[in-house]
Amino acid sequence: MSKYTLHINGEPRNVDAAPETPLLWVLRDSLGLVGAKFGCGAGHCGACTVHVNGVPTRACMTPVSTVGRKQVTTIEGLAANAAHPLQQAWLELDVPQCGYCQAGQIMTAAALLKENPNPSDEEIDGALAGNLCRCATYLRIRAGIHRAAEIAAKKGGKS
Ligand code: FES
Ligand code: FES
Repeated sequence: MSKYTLHINGEPRNVDAAPETPLLWVLRDSLGLVGAKFGCGAGHCGACTVHVNGVPTRACMTPVSTVGRKQVTTIEGLAANAAHPLQQAWLELDVPQCGYCQAGQIMTAAALLKENPNPSDEEIDGALAGNLCRCATYLRIRAGIHRAAEIAAKKGGKS
């Protein structure tokens, strides 16, 4: 076991873990941040997506020893009171079905909207191609991202 101070959702968090432990395990089992989900454990489904220094990252494939002082953001830290335009749009359009993949979808979509505040269908499909949904909510996810872009534009471009 080694000691790490991770920077999660803007706060330092101390954890004891073996160096190869996936960040996803640390988030869920040590820190109780269970929004990111375990799907495939092999980088294929996107259910575990968090941001590391703003970049969508597979937490199941990220050894805790590689995180260092990078800023990790999980769905729990995306916005205070779940007020991110994507979270508002998701509620408004009732996007999830079982919900299992949705934190990963939203984290990937949040990074897309930061880069591209008004993405086309093709750009959305391209950016989210690595996030699988076994309930096939893809059309509602796409609609949710367009709606979030509108909400963010009304708020002055803050997403
Ligand atoms: S659980 Fe990480 S990509 Fe599937
Ligand atoms: S909503 Fe069920 S897996 Fe996506």
